[in-house]
Amino acid sequence: TDGWPTPEQTGTTPPSFAFAFDIDGVLLHVAKPIPGASETLQYLQDHNIPFILLTNGGGKLEADRVKDLSEKLGVSLTTDNFVQSHTPFRQLVAPGPESLRDKTILVTGADANKCRLIAESYGFRNVVTPADILHAHPTIWPFEPLHDPVHPAVYTRPLPRPIYTPGVIDNLSSALKVDAIFVFNDPRDWALDIQVITDLLLSKQGYLGTYSTKNDDHSLPGCGWQQDGQPPLYFSNADLFWSTGFHLPRFGQGAFQAAVAGVWRRITGGHELQRRAIGKPYGETYRFAEQVLNSHRHEMLRRHQGNHRHEAVGALKCVYMVGDNPESDIAGANEYVSEAGTEWKSVLVRTGVWSADHGRGHEQLKGKFKPDMIVDDVGSAVGWALEEEE
Ligand code: G3P
Ligand code: MG
Repeated sequence: TDGWPTPEQTGTTPPSFAFAFDIDGVLLHVAKPIPGASETLQYLQDHNIPFILLTNGGGKLEADRVKDLSEKLGVSLTTDNFVQSHTPFRQLVAPGPESLRDKTILVTGADANKCRLIAESYGFRNVVTPADILHAHPTIWPFEPLHDPVHPAVYTRPLPRPIYTPGVIDNLSSALKVDAIFVFNDPRDWALDIQVITDLLLSKQGYLGTYSTKNDDHSLPGCGWQQDGQPPLYFSNADLFWSTGFHLPRFGQGAFQAAVAGVWRRITGGHELQRRAIGKPYGETYRFAEQVLNSHRHEMLRRHQGNHRHEAVGALKCVYMVGDNPESDIAGANEYVSEAGTEWKSVLVRTGVWSADHGRGHEQLKGKFKPDMIVDDVGSAVGWALEEEE
């Protein structure tokens, strides 16, 4: 940050531009700060320049992840400017005819029970996990070795209703019905999760243990797959790869999504899995992030001006998205169209999953994947943006 404008040069009123930082590969590598990351965030805080952390990671409560990041980066951060892959799911409990607040949802992730607690913190009231189902009905997954070590009973809860079982529970009104399925972050037990998700997608209206007769009705367009009131399937992160401790990129949640879609294609004779995907690069996530960033900036302005001098505040003119993944961070910023007219510019760094020397390198940076700028690291990204804004 040496040589960057001082508060005297920039003034301390929050400007009309802001930053959105990806975390893995931009601020952190595994659990360690990337050189310059802490100083850069500290500089922005000291100069009242708004920013948001926008990650496709997840699996922890927002408050816990922010506390952990503050400690690792040595900068005090808050949840006011923090969006994880699954944070936008909180919008789905808002009152209205579409609200999922009181519906039964299936949630999975790295630690599905932790993901249940996150979902409950968003306001979802009836959350079931694959492990709850496995414990109530162990025959749903026939291979035993994974049962106890991966899904200990202590992290399960009794099901709100038993699952449909011919001759035992065959009255649908007393059987478990799942109204929506959520993948919060990267599942650990792909096999059980793919089995249960597929069971629900093949069921009649989300009653686990049933099979819809519409599936095989060839008179329906698309043979009737996913046309019998089955639960919608939500994914929060499409990253096929991400940057980890291994020297080559590792599978992300996108690989799990591809696995579910691949099995679905085999079962249905080539049909595309109907799903709702959020997280970067989807516009839904950028729209949510822009909203969070605007409220955060308004709050900074309010604090700066004092309540008595609160002036009308226009929308942000520009947001610089700093990321390491052309397929998520960069493509998302390039394609997103802000209703408020805010321009999103994309800056690619060399500290993460993309590298000119690996795989497709520069080949990968065409069309929507082409960043406005490529720099070495997050410090240089901010330096470049500040020059643009001078
Ligand atoms: O699971 C995390 C990952 O896919 C990427 O995180 O911070 O680079 O968006 P991030
Ligand atoms: Mg990243």
